[in-house]
Amino acid sequence: MKFFLDTANLDELKKGASWGIVDGVTTNPTLIAKEGRPIEDQIRMICDIVDGDISAEVVATEAAPMVREGRQLARIHKNVVVKCPLTRDGIRATSELSKEGIRVNVTLCFSAAQALLAAKAGAYIISPFIGRVDDTGWNGMELIRNIVTIYRNYGFRTQILAASIRTPNHVIEAALAGAHIGTMPLKVLEMLFHHPLTDKGLDQFLKDWAKVYQEASVAG
Ligand code: E4P
Repeated sequence: MKFFLDTANLDELKKGASWGIVDGVTTNPTLIAKEGRPIEDQIRMICDIVDGDISAEVVATEAAPMVREGRQLARIHKNVVVKCPLTRDGIRATSELSKEGIRVNVTLCFSAAQALLAAKAGAYIISPFIGRVDDTGWNGMELIRNIVTIYRNYGFRTQILAASIRTPNHVIEAALAGAHIGTMPLKVLEMLFHHPLTDKGLDQFLKDWAKVYQEASVAG
């Protein structure tokens, strides 16, 4: 499973990237707006920090301007993946951009039917938002499982990116379901490290080590 960070914040990206386990980044208009820079500048700086797929989202809502915006975003850096929303225009733009060889991440996916449309349009990535599905009282993980099954049935090569991840359990369940990628806030990535028995075990190892070798150095 690839791990992406779901943030446009450079400090968070530097911290996450320093662990050597981050494969890419997803941004959206909300995340870019929080950083207060023009999208081109912010995406360029992100590309300097993380060497992997970097999603940058269009804000046009009609197909033709979406395609123009997508081409501009793709020119920023070779690693940019253009994000289009799962609307009729978004699917049309995805189909056009994909035919031009521009990789598209179709975002705001909330149903298996929508995921099927994205795959048929040649999307490189589909982003089902599991946390937001859970918020409505439906089951986000069931959505991931259904998309995995449908894509396998027909051999679609579109990668399934579990988005809107809120907990470590979302990551594990998405991995069990067969999602290719999980995108998560830095906070969730940090939580994946934690286990009380690791801390307790390490503490004991270091105490046992110190008891013998510090005593030996004092004696010597
Ligand atoms: C994915 O690409 C989206 O940016 C993101 O996962 C949305 O998550 P949220 O529901 O926490 O805003």
